[in-house]
Amino acid sequence: MNININKTINELTLDEKVSLLSGGSAWYTQPIERLGIPHVLMTDGPTGLRLSKNQVSVGEETLGNIEKSTSFPCSSAMASTFNQELMEEVGREIALQFQEHGVSLLLAPGINGKRTPLCGRNFEYMSEDPYLSGKMAVAYIKGVQGEGVGTTLKHYVANNQENKRFTVNAVMDERTLREIYLAPFEMAVKEAAPWSVMGAYNRVNGTYCCENNKLMLDILRDEWGFDGMVVSDWTAITDKVGSVKNGCDLEMPGPSMRDQEVLDALETGVLSMADLNDRVRRVLQFVQRALMNKKEVKVDYARAHEVSRRAAEESTVLLKNQDDILPLNSNLKIVVLGEQAADVMQGGGCAKLDPERLSPPLDELRKRNPDLVYAPGYTGDAPDEKLINEAKVAAADADVALVFVGTTYSIESEGFDRAHMRVADSHLALIREVAKVNKNVIVMISSGSAVEVHQFDKDVKAIFQLWYPGQAAGEALVRLLYGEVSPSGKLSETYPVHLENTPVFDNGHVNVEEVEYKEGLFVGYRYYGTKKIPVQYPFGHGLTYTTFEYSGLKLSQRDLKNGDQLEVSLNVTNTGGVKAKETVQIYVHDVRSQYPRPEQELKGFAKVELKPGETKRISATLDERAFAYYVPHLSKFAVETGEFEIRVGADSRDIRLTELVRFESQDGVTIPLTDRDSVLDWLQNPETSDRMKTVMNDKFGGPYRTDSSIFCIMSGLTIRKFFDQSSLLCPGHNVDVKKTEAYLTGNSE
Ligand code: BGC
Repeated sequence: MNININKTINELTLDEKVSLLSGGSAWYTQPIERLGIPHVLMTDGPTGLRLSKNQVSVGEETLGNIEKSTSFPCSSAMASTFNQELMEEVGREIALQFQEHGVSLLLAPGINGKRTPLCGRNFEYMSEDPYLSGKMAVAYIKGVQGEGVGTTLKHYVANNQENKRFTVNAVMDERTLREIYLAPFEMAVKEAAPWSVMGAYNRVNGTYCCENNKLMLDILRDEWGFDGMVVSDWTAITDKVGSVKNGCDLEMPGPSMRDQEVLDALETGVLSMADLNDRVRRVLQFVQRALMNKKEVKVDYARAHEVSRRAAEESTVLLKNQDDILPLNSNLKIVVLGEQAADVMQGGGCAKLDPERLSPPLDELRKRNPDLVYAPGYTGDAPDEKLINEAKVAAADADVALVFVGTTYSIESEGFDRAHMRVADSHLALIREVAKVNKNVIVMISSGSAVEVHQFDKDVKAIFQLWYPGQAAGEALVRLLYGEVSPSGKLSETYPVHLENTPVFDNGHVNVEEVEYKEGLFVGYRYYGTKKIPVQYPFGHGLTYTTFEYSGLKLSQRDLKNGDQLEVSLNVTNTGGVKAKETVQIYVHDVRSQYPRPEQELKGFAKVELKPGETKRISATLDERAFAYYVPHLSKFAVETGEFEIRVGADSRDIRLTELVRFESQDGVTIPLTDRDSVLDWLQNPETSDRMKTVMNDKFGGPYRTDSSIFCIMSGLTIRKFFDQSSLLCPGHNVDVKKTEAYLTGNSE
């Protein structure tokens, strides 16, 4: 069905137009039957279809009683694959299940930046790094939309904590907003054109996101050219008229109780007809897209399960492997401990699915070791002495103890933030007690974000970070444990040693209405790396069962200018004994800049599979943006002339190869000097330095030795004072102040 949008806008009554700006019900858009405009169904992801059976019959919508669907690894996990093709494949499988159920819009992906491991919803977000988040979101969107289902980029923007999420005011400077929190949205909008963007609950610099003119109109639409529909998060709108005026197209859930307010605002001129028509057009265009892309689908659930298994394999991160205890020898007697082995953890809240099939680790390990002993070890978060003792008895008799731990639904979920960074107390107690009777403890962690590993690190030989691995968790884990596939996940976020080490430990996540982002740009590895703070595991870390060597780094050019692209290529060789995949990471370090910058930033990555002894050449392209930062006085991303180090690493702290490039930029990043800046500022500024030296030498009795006392005193003077004092400073020198000033500022003829 095709809607003639212009004609429809002319035919709609004012009431009908306004009604289109809210849902018809909790999960549907508003239909206009008179004009043949149907309602369109939307529902949550991000790890699969989450559709309540009642959701489809309007008026009876609940969150329970949900359809079965394939559950894929959570977003932190998917980002840890560093595999965009795989992410796209997952997106396609999810979309097919949406099509099969007649759902046209997926309320995902979530790409808020991980400001702290404590954010209760981190499992639903990709990374602490905007580049990785953006790239993985692009792949996800391409996959989903390629199958004719729309995506919703959320939560726009700075929904970085769950405590007070409906009201909290995220206060930050422009660079932090642009470089850290908006950047992944910008990349996804520009590179993948999502059908929809969801306005977040919170405020940014004082204004609610859904009513935020700057975010919705200036940046999203005007700067980035977003042509889709803005939907509010569920109940996010506080001021209906303000939201319509400032670019929020669809209020959810519906129906709206506030249409009259919009009609009144049109009457009084607070809202213009042009604004109204624009919002209506975007909703109609969305309905149009949905209708044109609907298709009959018969899902192949076995194939989807297989994709989920591969995704779980590639997202699991081997954090530690002491004495090469892994992969396990099949003859070893294993014991499986911890209730979480018998289930598969998912993120709590609107992302929770009813998996179409499930392979918990315990079941899959039993298939391989029919006689294995299992002990739950805990139930609930508080340690249970009896259960721990039973687990100890079982562990004492085994070669290897596999202990399953993590966060629980009462520790980590949508709706609230974690109160600490530990695994559940009962899980920690189990590890520590079991380690007293078995020297070969292998820990599996299920959590959506970093946990404090130092609490048990010394007690155990190996650690796997499973995240929330999806329905094929058990199959994937068994293959990883026994070396049928080599681990290849790399951390999509830093594992700090202590919660107290995190950049926002004493700032945010308490129940305050206003959170000032004092750490600015310095989140995740940008913080730990720049401030040289030891971490448990750095961003990008992940072990495997072989070793890789990097060599032959080649850059397409050494001198760059605006508009250039830099090709970075190198050889990666598998120097060990088994096939495995490696993710090569490319970081850029700005050698010197006027404004503070993080010590390095991820700007490229490539994943490659290598047989033992095999070498492949991999490459990545860095464009101008890889060198740019948001320059406040220019109000845009720009490159500063100077040197940059290209760093190629296996993780953010394991840099293997480096090369320097020089970027000659026309962006004019240099901060404009005034007569309040010092002589030194004028001397150091690349644009004025030569002239300043000439002035000092020719007119002010130089040359000066820069270590002389007179130079030290003079260099601190403002240039104005320097001129004013010229006769005193340079007796006998006839300085024409006006001419000199004109010369210095480049204004002399
Ligand atoms: C969540 C959104 C979700 C919506 C609908 C909200 O509470 O923040 O992410 O899409 O509910 O379930």
